[in-house]
Order: sequence, then structure tokens, then C-alpha cells
Amino acid sequence: MRSRRALLYVPADDLHKINKAANLSVDSIILDLEDATATNRKQEARQISANVLQTIQFGDSERLVRVNPFFSGLTEADLEAILPAKPDGIILPKVINAADVQTLSSIIQSAEQKNGWQIGSIPIIAVVESALGIIQLPQICQADARLQAIICGGEDLAADLNAIRTRSAKELFYARSAVVLHAAAYKLQAIDMVTADFTDLDFLVEEARSGMEMGFSGKQIIHPNQVEPVQKAFTPEEDEIRYAQELIRQFNENQSNGQGAFAIDGAMVDMPMITRAKNLLARANITTE
Ligand code: COA
Ligand code: MG
Repeated sequence: MRSRRALLYVPADDLHKINKAANLSVDSIILDLEDATATNRKQEARQISANVLQTIQFGDSERLVRVNPFFSGLTEADLEAILPAKPDGIILPKVINAADVQTLSSIIQSAEQKNGWQIGSIPIIAVVESALGIIQLPQICQADARLQAIICGGEDLAADLNAIRTRSAKELFYARSAVVLHAAAYKLQAIDMVTADFTDLDFLVEEARSGMEMGFSGKQIIHPNQVEPVQKAFTPEEDEIRYAQELIRQFNENQSNGQGAFAIDGAMVDMPMITRAKNLLARANITTE
């Protein structure tokens, strides 16, 4: 699965921002037909998105489109306009059950068949952003083979919970954790909430780091200034890499001497630490044996 450390939303009807995003070194770009596009601009946004997907170079960035949720009645027209332009993936918001994902999957499959594209080549990412979505995560995660990631939508979720959004995000901790837990159980990526304040980059780094520490593999962002700090937060530092490599080296040495657990700097090291060290190296794209 490709690395998705930062996923940048761009209003799908805003050509200036789309061009700007295309020139950034960001893992994923999301052309947003949902909340970033005003209700009276949906048709225009569909046309612009389909057009840029076919005409603009996005460099190494993944080109995703967020369509409107099925209950809006807009999704089918979104997909009809977008799929012929072959986006790299579709983001479905407000997912509450497996059927949502399966309906989208069958529409994508028809487009793949019609165009002679490889079946299964266009992945789905589901946004879970309601209380019902959170409690139905087990069925959502198992809905379809196209599903690669679950996004935790913090703002909508807080509204649905009738919670007050606080700086610590304590009101969202359980739901964020549930997204990480279910994604891990079904081998999917977990993508963390947006940090809406795009001016306080220290706070952004803190929040991105907290998500990374919880087990998220990436984070949604909304402004170009957020790209670099977020991608850095989800990339292991040099000293973390060196420490992980040293841990594995000493582990292997101890294993060959017939010792499973050993100590480094006054702390015990055994198998789970080695698994985590390997996870960290995998995030740094370093292969271990
Ligand atoms: N993608 C690409 N470019 C963006 C951008 C984005 N998401 N957000 C801002 N920019 C551009 C601006 O156009 C501006 O370009 P310029 O210097 O060439 O004029 C530059 O970056 C600086 O932007 P700034 O003036 O700081 O912000 P703004 O007031 O123009 O925009 C927002 C603020 C919040 C409206 C904007 O960041 C945005 O649209 N974000 C995405 C919103 C979204 O998609 N929400 C739905 C998902 S949660
Ligand atoms: Mg939302």
C-alpha cells in the first residue's frame, strides 16, 4: 500500500488552489466535491476535477477525489463525471455501514470494466465521522477488498457527539483510538483528523505527533503550510532509525547466544519491542531481512 502521511484537501472548484497543490511534494491530494464545494458549485467542481485529472501533472502525489455521501443524492453524478478521468482513488464521506462501501465499489468496478482498466485498481478510503460509523467499524472495515484506509473525521464526529471541541481533543480520543484499533485489526491504514488551525504550526506538530504515537499512519490537512510538518511527524527521525537498528542487531546477537530477553540502558528488550522497531523501519521504507 502506498504511503499516505499527509492528505491535502483542495476545494474541487478552485483551479488556483489545485494548481498550487499539484506543485507540492505531498503524498496525497484530495479534490473535495463535498464540504469544500458550495452546493451551487457542485457541477462546476465536477467538470474542473475531471479536467485537471486529465490535464495537470501532480508529480508523485496521489490524486484522490472526495465525492458527496450517498444520502445527498449527489454521489452518482459525482462518480459519473470523475471516474472516466481515472482518479487514483475515491474517498467516501459519512460512511455508516458496509453497504455504503460496497455500493461505491460496484460503481467503480463498472467503470473499470467499461474502460478496460484493471479490476480493483481504484481503491476506496472511507471517512467515518459519526457515532453510528464508529460503532459499525467492524463491518465497515470488512466491507470490500478495495478499502485501503479509514479516515477519522474529527469535526463532524464532534458535532454528532454533541461534544465541545477542545484543544486537547479529549472528546475525540475514544473514537480516534477505535479507528486505529479497527484499522489495525483489518490491516488498513488509519488517517487522523484535521487540525483546522493552519497558523499554529507548533500545535499542528504536537497533534500530528500524538496521532502518530496512537498508531495513525497519516493525517488529513487543509493548507500548504501543513504539508511539511505533518509528513515529517510521520517519518521516523535519524536517531529513532539508528536506535531501532541497534535494537534489532543486539536482539539477533542475543538470540544466537540463546537469550530471548536482554537489557539496554536499564530497560528490558524482548520480541514486542523488536516488532515495533521493525514497524518503525518499515515507516522509513527500510527493509529488515
Ligand atoms: N490547497 C492548495 N492551496 C491552498 C490551500 C489548499 N488547501 N489552502 C490555501 N492555499 C493557497 C491559497 O490559495 C494561497 O495561495 P496564493 O498565495 O497563491 O494566493 C496560499 O495557499 C496561502 O493561503 P492563505 O491565504 O493562508 O489561506 P486562504 O485564506 O486562501 O485559505 C482556507 C484558507 C482554509 C479557505 C484554505 O486553506 C482551504 O480552502 N483549505 C481547504 C478546505 C477544505 O478542503 N475543507 C474540506 C475538508 S476539511
Ligand atoms: Mg466531514
